[in-house]
Amino acid sequence: MFNDVEKILFSQEKILERTKVLGTQISQDYMGKKLILISILKGSAIFMADLLKNITIPCQIDFMAVSSYCGGTKSTGEVKIIKDLDMSLEGFDVLLVEDILDTGRTLNYIKNLLKNRNPSSINICTMLDKPSKRVVDIDAKYVGFKIPDEFVVGYGLDFKEEYRNLPFVGILKPSVYSA
Ligand code: IMP
Ligand code: MG
Repeated sequence: MFNDVEKILFSQEKILERTKVLGTQISQDYMGKKLILISILKGSAIFMADLLKNITIPCQIDFMAVSSYCGGTKSTGEVKIIKDLDMSLEGFDVLLVEDILDTGRTLNYIKNLLKNRNPSSINICTMLDKPSKRVVDIDAKYVGFKIPDEFVVGYGLDFKEEYRNLPFVGILKPSVYSA
């Protein structure tokens, strides 16, 4: 698995350091509010756990699973709900937690869907942002790192459901894709 990696972009230390800054910022911004963090599965699970430990104000959590990719490296634009939320969002200040904001189609779809459930606000916190790939007008309030147009894996991010357990974000060797 480690041999398939061409380059490490962000080490675990670097991600944790950045997550701490984001957690502190979110704790300040949402002080006195009814915060709920919604992790978009599966990719954001690891980042969500780190972020959560750095939030120092009361908050609730929930999980939602959608599919936007069919196991490859290109966006299909199709979004399907696989697991919906357990909680009502009425009156909550919602923070959507994502692994990566790419074309923006997934989060745009989810944001519009959840707006109809009467939350007080909806914002986005993403570990990675690929702004050059955006096809819909959507932005994250909190961004871990901006990255160029490269397909990345690790720290929750997969290629064909593998590599999520790499303890860093990296780029795979081209031979892995063509295999
Ligand atoms: P979007 O709808 O194009 O913004 O895609 C968002 C989803 O695509 C993310 O939640 C990831 O699951 C997946 N994705 C986009 N770029 C990458 C990448 O570089 N590596 C792994 N997954 C990616
Ligand atoms: Mg994802």
